[in-house]
Amino acid sequence: EVREAMLEAARGLTWNEAENAFALALMRDRERVEAMPGTVQQEKTTRVRTSGLLDLVTPAETLDDVGGLAALKAWLGRQGALLAGAADALAWGFAPRDLPKGVLLLGVPGTGKSLAARAIAGTWHLPLLRLEMARVLGSLVGQSEARTQGALRLAEAMAPCVLHVDEIEKALAGAGAGHLDSGVTSRVVGTLLTWLQERGLGRDGVPAPVFVVATANRVESLPPELFRPGRFDQVFFLDLPDQAERRTVLEIHLRARRQTVAGGALEGLTAQTEGYSAAELEQVVKIACLTAFQDGGRRVTVEDLESARPTVTPLAESRGEELGALRNWARTRAQRANGTPGEPAGAVPGRRRLHG
Ligand SMILES: Nc1ncnc2c1ncn2[C@@H]1O[C@H](COP(=O)(O)OP(=O)(O)OP(=O)(O)O)[C@@H](O)[C@H]1O
Ligand SMILES: [Mg+2]
Repeated sequence: EVREAMLEAARGLTWNEAENAFALALMRDRERVEAMPGTVQQEKTTRVRTSGLLDLVTPAETLDDVGGLAALKAWLGRQGALLAGAADALAWGFAPRDLPKGVLLLGVPGTGKSLAARAIAGTWHLPLLRLEMARVLGSLVGQSEARTQGALRLAEAMAPCVLHVDEIEKALAGAGAGHLDSGVTSRVVGTLLTWLQERGLGRDGVPAPVFVVATANRVESLPPELFRPGRFDQVFFLDLPDQAERRTVLEIHLRARRQTVAGGALEGLTAQTEGYSAAELEQVVKIACLTAFQDGGRRVTVEDLESARPTVTPLAESRGEELGALRNWARTRAQRANGTPGEPAGAVPGRRRLHG
């Protein structure tokens, strides 16, 4: 049993690495055989931490901390159930390649793409690895490709896990992207795309369970290959929250600071915050809380929130055109994360019309 667990823990390591990890476990856990797999696992964690490419976190957030985005959350719920019951699904007749592989989240800044990546890991009780494309490409240009490969192999070694490829557009921005020549970026892209398509298979022929959450807020540079079936299970577009979603987001961030405001009292504020992203709503809550706290540590009130509101200028105000283009783009290429499951990304029932 311990041997099985050791093999499982060593999955994804090279022969050399596995040999070293086993040797360490044999030495350190001589008296406590049952601790050996833990030691091997620990070795992998250390390797991830020292790789300089991946961050490893155990997120505290769950999908309950994500306001709105009902369609995305419903979909994730189904994927989670399928992952948890993978053995049954395979026995039923699913092919290994049918198991959840990942999701591409596109959209407006501050709508919860990175939060969702953390919340998925938190809800599924999996470690979260974050691969920052900027870091992969940042230094040692000549080695970017090898570094990417190394990072992806490490992620497989950590499976089951969630891999957050943050700002994937950074890797995909072809020629003219800063100091990088397009040859390097396209090779890194190639490495990533190939890996997305042909994940390493585990001992049992089942792909290593690495659920990829790729996020991007710019779409111009995303290559069409990224949208080919087989790379991601689904592409979602995260839009600005509608009125009901704004209320939920405000409530979440009040609750996170142990504050509550009677439900109906938020109506005015949710109407006034048309165009605010969730991150900007959080900012409003933070400012209001600061006011209340510094005013003798009293409870936060709706008035605090309403006076804090104009001090936060929503990004959408200055970037409306860009936003429109983004929505248009998403209409044909992505599912809407907001609202009811299954709506295409274009169906925004009267959202902007609310403005007048
Ligand atoms: N849907 C949401 N519900 C509740 N809080 C949210 C939501 N979206 C964002 N927030 C708050 O705003 C913070 C920043 O959001 P996040 O980093 O997830 O945005 P993002 O979509 O990744 O933006 P960017 O495109 O700039 O990376 C989160 O940590 C969270 O506190
Ligand atoms: Mg982000």
